[in-house]
Formats: sequence, C-alpha cells, structure tokens
Amino acid sequence: MVNIAVLGFGVVGSGVVELCESNADKISAAAGNDVYVKYILDLRDFPDSPYKDRIVKDFEVILNDPEVSLIVECLGGSHPAYDFSLAALKKGKSVVSSNKETVAKFGHELLKTARENGVYYLFEASVGGGTPVIRPLSKCLAANRVEEVCGILNGTTNYILTMMNKYSESFATALASAQEKGYAERDPSDDINGVDTCRKICILTDIVTGKFCDPAKVDTTGITAIRPEDVKTVEKWGGAIKLLGRCTLVGDKYAVMVSPFVVSADRMIASVDNVFNAVAFKCDAAGDVTLCGRGAGKLPTASAMVSDVIDAVSGKAYRADWSTPEESREDDFVSPDDVADRFLIAFDNGADALARVNAEFGEVRVIDDATALYVMTEQITGADAKKHIANLEKLGLKSQTALRVLL
Ligand code: HSE
Repeated sequence: MVNIAVLGFGVVGSGVVELCESNADKISAAAGNDVYVKYILDLRDFPDSPYKDRIVKDFEVILNDPEVSLIVECLGGSHPAYDFSLAALKKGKSVVSSNKETVAKFGHELLKTARENGVYYLFEASVGGGTPVIRPLSKCLAANRVEEVCGILNGTTNYILTMMNKYSESFATALASAQEKGYAERDPSDDINGVDTCRKICILTDIVTGKFCDPAKVDTTGITAIRPEDVKTVEKWGGAIKLLGRCTLVGDKYAVMVSPFVVSADRMIASVDNVFNAVAFKCDAAGDVTLCGRGAGKLPTASAMVSDVIDAVSGKAYRADWSTPEESREDDFVSPDDVADRFLIAFDNGADALARVNAEFGEVRVIDDATALYVMTEQITGADAKKHIANLEKLGLKSQTALRVLL
C-alpha cells in the first residue's frame, strides 16, 4: 500500500480524498498498488467529516513520516505551497499539484529538485482542470513542433461570458454564481483580470518551448472592460468573445499573450461555453488538435490530480523540464505587438467616423453601427493597431473596444 497526504481540505482537496475512496479499486488497478490517504493537512477543524481522524495541522507530521511517499498539494497561492513542496521533494516524496501559481513561478526549480531526488513533481490539474492537457501535450504530441496554443483556460471567465451572452446576465451576477459554484479563485480578481489564464498559458509555453515564461512579463488583459453590447455584436456577427491564453510562433520565436479575443464561430473553441475549458494546438505533424472538458470544480480537478498520483505510484510519469529564470534571456520571446491579426474595433459613431477610420486603416469592414461603429480591420500587427487607434484619438475619434480576431 502507498500512503499519501493531501494538503488542503477545500473544494479540490476534499474531491481528491473522496475520489481516492470512491474509486479505490479502479485507482489501485491502474497504479498497481493500493493508495491510502493517511493525512489531510488543514488548519480548520472538520468535526463532522468522516475523515476527521486523519486531519493534522502541522506539516512536519507529514514530512517526517517515512510511510508517506507522496503529497497532493491543493493549497493555492505560492506560500507555503512552494515551501512545503520543496521540502517534500527533498525528503524523497513525490508531489502532485493543482497549483498553477506555484507551477508557473517555481515549476523549473521543483522539477529539478524532483529529478535530483529521484521522485516526481506532477501538475496535470494545474491547466485545464479535469481536461487532460499537460500529458497529451508532453507525450502524445511530443514529436511535433507546436506552432500555436490557444486556450480557454479559465472556467470562471468563460462562465461569466456565457451568462452575459446567452442569458443577458450582468457581469456581477454571473461572477457571484461562479463563486458560489466553487469555480473562482479565493481572490476572483485573478480570474477576471486574466492572471489565472496567464499562469496557465505560461505553463503550456514552458512545455512547448522548454524556456521559462515569466508570468510577470506576459501582456495580460482580463474581461472587466467587456461590455454587454460587445458580446451581443460579436454574437450577431457570428462568433463569441473568449478570454484566451495564446502562445504563437512568429518567425522562430514565440509571442505569449492573454486577452479577450473575438473567436469566429468556424473555430471549435467558439462554442465551448460555461465552465468548460478548451485548448487548441496547431502542430506541424498532427495538425489541429483540440481538447475540451471541465476546467474547474471539485471532482474534475481531483480526477486530474489522482491521474498524477497513479502515474507516480506506477513509476510511469513524464518528467517535464524547462529553463530556470537565471538561464532565461530577454529575447527568448517576442512581443505580441509583432503578431498580426484582424482586429475588431468599436469607435464612437458620428457623421464622418467611417471615412476617418478608412482613411487611417485603409478599407475596413463595418460589422455594426447601431450603438457604436464596430469595424474589422485587415491583418495588421498589434503595433500598427495601436498606432492607428492613437492617431484617430489625436484627431478626436475615440475607440471603445479593440479585440484581436481569430477567424
Ligand atoms: N479559478 C479557476 C477557473 C479554477 O475558474 O478556471 C481552476 O483553475
């Protein structure tokens, strides 16, 4: 039997414990050994829980118990998650994590420590929740050069955008309901400001490029400026607004960005709604591959974590590896300003607005002119889009929204 400890008895941690009990036979057959949750670390008391006897408040109890060979970290935040993970790996205990913040910031070091100590640091649940993403990318697509990754990587914002689009709900009502369902982060500003998506696209970028992609350096815009009229205009045009993490090849380097995009209905990910996540890979051999599933929630996330437990116990896990911040160079990545796309831009409407927009951008397509002048540009770089918008602003024509378009 393999004894494990679960750090954090919140939504995800309790899901891991529940799944280990309810699907014990299935897990044992896949892992080649029985898996038993010996300890649960949490500072709170759970007097009514059937697992109350396994709860400990002191991490040292787990760290110093030689019977515990694996730790499932569901703490969230960098500290003490990083510190506990590092200590466990140094003690020769494998660590399984759903903690995107810790993986994005410290994954390079934790992976190195795991390798040095002959154990695993695994994090399937950190991207895509219950949707397998890390393993398919690292293993099944390993023979490919991945040219682009486009992902709906945050369930909370996808849920909010869906509710605004389909049920005309306000932003605040939709956010409150996502929090109630346990999808949102403790601080939901990380969801709506794109920070959570940023951490996840950084992890995928680390794997694709083998280079550390620093979340602090990624151009990140969330969904707080998206207005109901933007959502409705895009739906009428034939698409949906989605918050995407995107890592795309420009020449021989990658650009990484997080922002709301207009996604044409022709793309599979345009119809991925509610709490679902989807990641579309463009690969040189496999072509287009899209993975889709539940991106947040108790049992979906537990499913991904327990799959890592099974891989670690059976000794068949994949070891990711990417550069450290010290090995990184300023020019490892290029700016999103260098990436060319069409843009959907809303301008204040007025008698000569279209003529002025056409004079600045060259011919644009008018998408709607009811509430504002919504136009779609030809393919231009992010730098050119900014320059044209600034020129028009100087002439007194204000823009309201500017979004990249994926056709
Ligand atoms: N807050 C995250 C989301 C949880 O909404 O997707 C899963 O990482």
